Amino acid sequence: MARQILVLNGPNLNLLGTREPEVYGSTTLVDILAHLGNEFAGRAELRDAQSNSEGELIDALHDARTWADGVVFNPGAYTHTSVALRDAISACELPVVETHLSNVHAREEFRHTSMLSAVCLGVVGGFGRHSYTVALEGLLRHLDG
Ligand code: DQA
Repeated sequence: MARQILVLNGPNLNLLGTREPEVYGSTTLVDILAHLGNEFAGRAELRDAQSNSEGELIDALHDARTWADGVVFNPGAYTHTSVALRDAISACELPVVETHLSNVHAREEFRHTSMLSAVCLGVVGGFGRHSYTVALEGLLRHLDG
């Protein structure tokens, strides 16, 4: 049976493709999501959401409690700042994979700290658009035991 998965993206990720392509690659978010859907067809039913607002990301996590088996989440810069998102991840009681295109540990020091990792199932980063594939594969394997 296909798993129900939320693929959630935070601030500025709507600009993928044109945003600092040397860091984040030149693939758009729409293309990443389409590719992910094809790759996992039959194994996962994906719903996606992107928001530049912390509150909307929190609402999406709350809503996911009612239908999702797990979440692939790129929280963007909120990774490094948001206690509210950390609490939402804890509250939703779903396995969440923190996902980054870039290797945040190889970048500026302020990106080395995540407010979220400790309440996530796992963390993936540094593989560009493939980070989403690795994150979803890990999540599905976790769900399948
Ligand atoms: C990011 C890394 C964050 O530090 C940054 O603020 C982003 C994108 C990534 O996917 O590599 O917006 O989450």
